[in-house]
Amino acid sequence: MRKVTIDDLHLKGKKVLVRVDFNVPIESGKVADDTRIREALPTIRKIIADGGKAILMSHLGRPKGGFDPKYSLKPVAEHLSTLLGMSVKFAPDCVGDEVRKMVDELKEGEVLLLENVRFHPEEEKNDENFARELASLADVYVNDAFGSAHRAHASTEGVARFLKETAIGYLMQKEIEYLSKATSNLEKPYVAILGGAKVSDKIQVIKNLIDKVDAFLIGGGMANTFLKAKGYEVGKSLVEEDKIELAKEILDEAEEKKVTFLLPVDCVIANKFANDAEFEVVAVDKVKPDWMILDIGPETVKRFGEVLENAKTIVWNGPMGVFEFENFAKGTFEIAKILAEVTKKGAITIVGGGDSASAISKAGLANSVSHVSTGGGASLEFLEGKVLPGVAAIRDK
Ligand code: 3PG
Repeated sequence: MRKVTIDDLHLKGKKVLVRVDFNVPIESGKVADDTRIREALPTIRKIIADGGKAILMSHLGRPKGGFDPKYSLKPVAEHLSTLLGMSVKFAPDCVGDEVRKMVDELKEGEVLLLENVRFHPEEEKNDENFARELASLADVYVNDAFGSAHRAHASTEGVARFLKETAIGYLMQKEIEYLSKATSNLEKPYVAILGGAKVSDKIQVIKNLIDKVDAFLIGGGMANTFLKAKGYEVGKSLVEEDKIELAKEILDEAEEKKVTFLLPVDCVIANKFANDAEFEVVAVDKVKPDWMILDIGPETVKRFGEVLENAKTIVWNGPMGVFEFENFAKGTFEIAKILAEVTKKGAITIVGGGDSASAISKAGLANSVSHVSTGGGASLEFLEGKVLPGVAAIRDK
């Protein structure tokens, strides 16, 4: 690893500003999946053990650049206190006099979590003054937010310019080492399974991966845009109308380049977006105009399985359906099971993205795949071969 890591720094008595990715699901004021928080613990514990003063910062969700209690990190501070077995202080903002006072009062080995950095629109603009203000809170900057490393924001990139000592944390190091190893000696056939609801983010990824992978298996919300591009009726399903043209281009390009591109052949449709909705399994050309697609069907699972059987490297990002609803979780869990089986037979399987990671742990199979990445967009951009701004910003050794 060429980057300075947290092991290269002397932390005793220093104010250590750590960018973590605590963008975790919150349900009824509680953390619903703490994978990303647990994965950040080694770095936090190291700072505590070395007598540093840990100042943690993160975003949560996509608030519209102002305070919104729905996106407060307060529940995360409470959860982190439990995981660490010590009190974690919580600052009501990430900059300003009150925060500075709380930072100044921190003792060695104490932990302070700042409020959501995205409550300031300057964060996503990577505003220089905002980055300077964040940096002014600390002596050292550590970036351990692999999940946000593809974002050039003030807390992930800009801040590093204003502190002399910068390093990557243990989680960032672990993710980069694993993903680099998997991609430097990549064994083919290489298959990408893509799904989920962040359609627009991932359609571009397909375009960038088309020269690298042998097959794409497309499910989840993203598949609907492709099905519509092919002229199918998708009823009230989630579709990104403004991406239909791009979807057509991708379908043509895949055909031209002879890349296997599988879309669902059957699906589970529902009369409303709820677990207690009426539902039916139908062929993709039989979707009712007033219904919506909420999962892939059994024939699709079978066809995807046939491709996965022979794959040597598999990347999975995004669930195949609305797995949060029991009635529409089957497609996602079946794919998780297939991944576990092919991993046993020697395939390298990498699962990325908050939703896929939580689906695989819900299926009880998180330890049965090669690597579960805490990064969704970040792991895909890494696999595309892009330089992640959050990593590039850290000094080389
Ligand atoms: C993620 O969940 O992929 C990261 O936390 C980044 O979130 P973002 O897509 O809102 O920037």
